[in-house]
Amino acid sequence: MGAVIAGTGMFVPDNVVSNHDLARIMDTTDEWITNRTGVKERRFVDPGVGSSDLAIAAVTNALADAGVEGSGVDALITATMTPDYLAPGIAGLVQAGLGLSHIAAFDVRQQCSGFLYGLDLADALIHSDRAETVAVVGAEVHAGFQPWSAASWEVLLGNSQEPLPQQDYERNTEHRAWSVLFGDGAGAMILRRGERSDEGILATSLHTDGESFELIWVPGVGFKSRPYVSQDDLADDLQLPTMDGGGLFRKAVRLMPEAARMVLERTGMTLDDVDLVVAHQANDRILEGVRKQFGLEPEKVPSNIGSYGNTTAGTLPILYHELSASGRVVPGSVVCFAAFGAGAHYGAALYREPAAS
Ligand code: UT7
Repeated sequence: MGAVIAGTGMFVPDNVVSNHDLARIMDTTDEWITNRTGVKERRFVDPGVGSSDLAIAAVTNALADAGVEGSGVDALITATMTPDYLAPGIAGLVQAGLGLSHIAAFDVRQQCSGFLYGLDLADALIHSDRAETVAVVGAEVHAGFQPWSAASWEVLLGNSQEPLPQQDYERNTEHRAWSVLFGDGAGAMILRRGERSDEGILATSLHTDGESFELIWVPGVGFKSRPYVSQDDLADDLQLPTMDGGGLFRKAVRLMPEAARMVLERTGMTLDDVDLVVAHQANDRILEGVRKQFGLEPEKVPSNIGSYGNTTAGTLPILYHELSASGRVVPGSVVCFAAFGAGAHYGAALYREPAAS
């Protein structure tokens, strides 16, 4: 029996940073960011808050929504590109923070496709009778990997009216192509064994295009270097992402629909059967490309990138939670999840919400 989504939850931090705020610390405009990406604002955590904290809050909300006690969770899967520490991942912190027993808890590191991979693993655990109830969470704190100085953050958050040092402004501008895209947030789902084979997760199709590894990656702070972090690396900003925006854009527009078609083929379904395409939110123009390829109206490929930016592994569950909470997912709804991101990992999953009991 396919795994069904028994509950969803999300958590985003309170600090809202608009495009106008960003324009105070770098050479950018609300117009550029809105027209090129669709992002209007994003959230950022306070210093000292990690993705584990956001994950704990999101899973707590999802458990309440599902009416499941922590003691009923058999496995925990945490997807994040931005763990609190370089090692280990956040699974142990989230497990302990939720007060769960010593169940299997593990991280997946598939970035923007991380939640999708987690969903597939949860389904596999349930299918193979290794678990009955699995919590999957995608959580990201991108604030820490922004290139912005303490002075920049003070201006950004409205705590300082002082002019920004010119060198800070120039550095922020140098990294503007990727830094304006991201925001912090977490979303979670509780998956349980379904009762019918035509409900729940119907098919998944996961892929990796390893040849595109360098489309977006962090070249420094890794164990191929000796030592794994050095002053030279930091001086060269190798701890920051390097991104080929155009290359990513073209691959995302092609590969998300390709993966979606695969799950449709596997189930003998067509686009006409799909009520919602919940696609990774990296850029509204990518979503527009997906809509065009599928000939779908905007309501069927919804977007919330305007409010949160790209929250990497948090994106799919946050969007699904919002759609579910606003009544867009009803008994029998067919939802196609699709993601593409760093790795380059991508894929799709087809899901049918159970009929009302
Ligand atoms: O999940 C994985 C994460 N990333 C992605 O999926 C990213 C996918 N790619 C994209 O979303 C787009 O490629 C971007 C939004 C990153 C860039 O959009 P674009 O339309 O491909 O712009 P571009 O890189 O071709 O840059 C156009 C111009 C450049 O100026 P010149 O060389 O034409 O003078 C950039 O320097 O826009 C400039 N620019 C900016 N201007 C104002 C780049 N970033 C900014 C900015 N504000 N933030």
